[in-house]
Amino acid sequence: MRDKAIITSALPYSNGEIHLGHVASTYLPADVTTRFLRQKGVEAYYICASDDYGTPILIQSEKEGKSPEEYVAYWNKRDFEDFSAFNIAFDLFYKTSSKENIAFVQSVFKKLQDAGHIYESEIIQFYCNNDKKFLPDRYVIGTCPYCKAEDQYSDLCEKCGRVPEEIENPHCSICGQTPVKEKTKHYFFKLKNFSEQLNKYLDNAPYLQKDVKKYVQNWIKSGLIDWDITRDISWGVPIPGSQGQVFYGWFDNHLAYISSALKFLNDKGIDGKEFWNSADVYHFIGKDIVYHHYLFLPAMRIGIGEEYKLPDYIPTRGHLTLQSKKISKSRNWYIGLKEFLKYYPTDYLRFYLIVINPYSQDDINFDWDEFATKINSELIGNLGNFVNRALGFTKKSFGGKIPTVEETDQLDKDAQEKIQNFSQEVSILMEQNHLDRALKKILEFSAHFNQYFQHKEPWKNGKGTNTCVYLSANAVRSIAIALYPFIPESAQKIWIQLGMEGNVSEQSWDSMSKLSIKDGHTLGIPSPLFVKVEESDIEKHKKKLGNKN
Ligand code: 2FM
Ligand code: ZN
Repeated sequence: MRDKAIITSALPYSNGEIHLGHVASTYLPADVTTRFLRQKGVEAYYICASDDYGTPILIQSEKEGKSPEEYVAYWNKRDFEDFSAFNIAFDLFYKTSSKENIAFVQSVFKKLQDAGHIYESEIIQFYCNNDKKFLPDRYVIGTCPYCKAEDQYSDLCEKCGRVPEEIENPHCSICGQTPVKEKTKHYFFKLKNFSEQLNKYLDNAPYLQKDVKKYVQNWIKSGLIDWDITRDISWGVPIPGSQGQVFYGWFDNHLAYISSALKFLNDKGIDGKEFWNSADVYHFIGKDIVYHHYLFLPAMRIGIGEEYKLPDYIPTRGHLTLQSKKISKSRNWYIGLKEFLKYYPTDYLRFYLIVINPYSQDDINFDWDEFATKINSELIGNLGNFVNRALGFTKKSFGGKIPTVEETDQLDKDAQEKIQNFSQEVSILMEQNHLDRALKKILEFSAHFNQYFQHKEPWKNGKGTNTCVYLSANAVRSIAIALYPFIPESAQKIWIQLGMEGNVSEQSWDSMSKLSIKDGHTLGIPSPLFVKVEESDIEKHKKKLGNKN
C-alpha cells in the first residue's frame, strides 16, 4: 500500500438516473475503499465525472428538444445529487466535456499520432442526403434480418438482442429517408500493436483479479483489432484538423480519469502528475467494460510513453439483477437510487449491497425479502442490538460512567484479545478488496460480544460486571471505527452515543484495537440506532416494481 491513492469509478453516462445496479458494482465499493484508505493514513482522493459524449446522448437530447450541452448539464447535476444523498463522497465529480478533458484528449491524440500509433483509413458509412449528415449506426433504423422486428437500430436489435450484420430496409432516424452509402475517412488506433506490452503489463500487475486477467489474455491470444476512434457527429471532442468529426466516446472518456484528477490536484496546489505517478491507482468497474479497461486504456497510456502510470487495481464486479431478473430501464425493471432513499436510510442500502457483493464477476441479486432479513437480523438484530444493549446497560446501571475494572476471567481475556486482533483481521480483507468478508468479520465480532455479554450476565451485578461493561464499551468503539467506511452515518451516531470527541471519520483504522475508553469516561445518550423493516412495506415495494408510470 502506497501512502497516496487515486480512486475512480466508471464514469456514468449523463443520460439517465443512477439506479441500484450502478452503485452496487462500482460507486459504493469505491467509496468504501476510499474511506478505508484514509483511515489507514493514505492520502486518497476519489475522482469521478459524467460521461457526456456519444451518439445515444445526442439522439436523446434531440428527442427532448434540448441542446446536448443542456441535456448533459441536467444529468451531471442530478446524478451528483443522487450520489451525494447516498454518501458517495467524491472529491471531484467533473465531466468528460470539460475544457481540461478536451485539451487533454487532443494532446494525447497528437502524442499517439507522433508515436505512429494512429492511422487513417477509408470506411463506408450511411449518409443521409436530406440531412447532409453521415449517420452513425444508432441513426440508422430498419428491420432486423434475424427476427424481422421493425424499427430496430442497425447496430442492435432490441427485440432479439442480436447485432445485425446488415439491417434490412435502412432509413434515417431523423427524417425517415433511405440513406446512401458513402466513403469517409476515419482514424484508427493500432491496438493490435500493443499485444506484447499488454501481456507484460498484465503479467506484472499483482493486484489485478486473476480470473479476469486470464480471459483478457485469451482475448489477446486470439488477436486484437484496431479501434475506429472517429465519429461523424457534432457532439464529442473535436478531432484536431478534421472537419465535423469527433472522437469516439471510449477514446475520450477514460482520459477524464486523469484530466479530472489533475484538475482537482492542481487546484489544491499539488503537482497532479507527480501525485498520480506516486499513488496507487484504482479504477473500479463493472464486468461489461473489462475490454476497455484492461486493454484499450492501458494501451493508450503505454502509447504515450507511460507518462501516467497504469492502474494497479481494476476492481471488477458482476451485475446486479433485481428479484432475479435483469435490470431494464425500458421495462421499468429497476429501482432508482433517489426513489429507494425515500423509503430507507442510506446505510440500509449500503449495508445490504456490500454484504451480498463478493469481489468477483459473479452477478448478485437484489431481493426485497432478503433485504428485509439482512437488515432486521444482521444490522439491527446483531449490530444494533449489541451497541444498544452495552450502552443502555451502562447508562441504566452506572449512570453512563465506565466503571473501574476489577476481576478478569478467561472470557474477558478472550474478549480483550478479540479487540486487539480486530483491526488487523479486518484490514487484511479490506486491502484485498473483500469488502463483503470484512463486513462479515465485523458482524462476527459483534455477535461474539453479544454472546459475551449474555454469558457474563452483568445485570446480576456479580463479580466481573465492571470488566464486562468496560470491555463492551470498548468493543462498541471498535465497531464504530470499523463500520465507518461501510455505514458512515450510523458509525457517527454510535460515536456520539459513546460520548467520544471529534468525528469517527478522524480515527485511525488501527486505533480500533486499542482500549481507549478508560474508567471514569461518561457516555452520551444511548438510543436505538435503527428502525425495523416492515414486511407490509416490502410487499408494497415488490408490487411497485415494473409498474412505475
Ligand atoms: O459503460 C459506461 O457506462 C461508460 N460510461 C463507462 C465509462 S468509464 C470510462 F470513462 F472509462
Ligand atoms: Zn435523414
